[in-house]
Amino acid sequence: MTARILDGKALGTKLRARLGARIAGLGFKPGLRVVRVGEDPASGVYVRNKDRAALEAGFDSATLHLPEATSEAMLLAEIARLNADPAVDGILVQLPLPGHIRAEAAIAAVDPAKDVDGFHPLNAGRLAAGQKGLVPCTPRGVMHLLAEAGVVLPGARALVLGRSQIVGRPMAQLLLGADCTVTIAHSRTRDLPGECRRAEILIAAAGRAEMVRGDWISPGAVVIDVGINRLADGRLGGDVAFQEVVVHAAAISPVPGGVGPMTIACLLENTLEAAVARRGLVAGWRKAPR
Ligand code: GUN
Repeated sequence: MTARILDGKALGTKLRARLGARIAGLGFKPGLRVVRVGEDPASGVYVRNKDRAALEAGFDSATLHLPEATSEAMLLAEIARLNADPAVDGILVQLPLPGHIRAEAAIAAVDPAKDVDGFHPLNAGRLAAGQKGLVPCTPRGVMHLLAEAGVVLPGARALVLGRSQIVGRPMAQLLLGADCTVTIAHSRTRDLPGECRRAEILIAAAGRAEMVRGDWISPGAVVIDVGINRLADGRLGGDVAFQEVVVHAAAISPVPGGVGPMTIACLLENTLEAAVARRGLVAGWRKAPR
């Protein structure tokens, strides 16, 4: 068996085009502000990609690049200003922040209605409680990839490898909400290969290059690789040993070109959703009846 490759680049492009078409019929441009503090080089690339994708789809997007020396109080004041700006529908504070700023404080300062990262404790709590709210972009993108793979989710055994606030935990909640039987595995899990072998859906978000090996995969499983690592030979690779796994799985997302482009598309999806919800519009983009 050779797995079907789940092309996140193509799917992300399709989703962004769909969002662009909706925005064209909206009569206003949803506003996105990405806040970057300091000079983390990877963040520079990510932020540029987000900004470019947003502008292309018709959003009013801008990046606020604050100097490394910005204090936590100054950042919180900037976030408060964006919270109060009616033209701003979505706020994303790019992580990591410089060491003297608490990420938790920055995340908690964002208005939950504009929290397009879905990281605010109120949105995390809503997700855990099975309520509507803004959902973190990467797990949301993974759900799109699973839909593209045509997996039947109810009753499926899903394993999430990794328990981060950004990916692992919200991912498990989304799968649970879709009626999967969910296991969360992590660095302290006993017999990780055995746990993976029982999975029909495997989401690798452990942050360790090529950790998931070919003989960890149940034949016919769907494997989504959330990892992004610089390999010893300089190439970018995921948390899955792609060449080993591709011969066992039914479908697999590559790195690069899998989850990454979906994360950006879902940031835009969240921003449009936040704009519509904040402005009291409903699916047809008319004012909701009161
Ligand atoms: N840094 C790496 N990934 C992300 C993300 O999804 N959101 C934010 N805010 N920062 C990140």
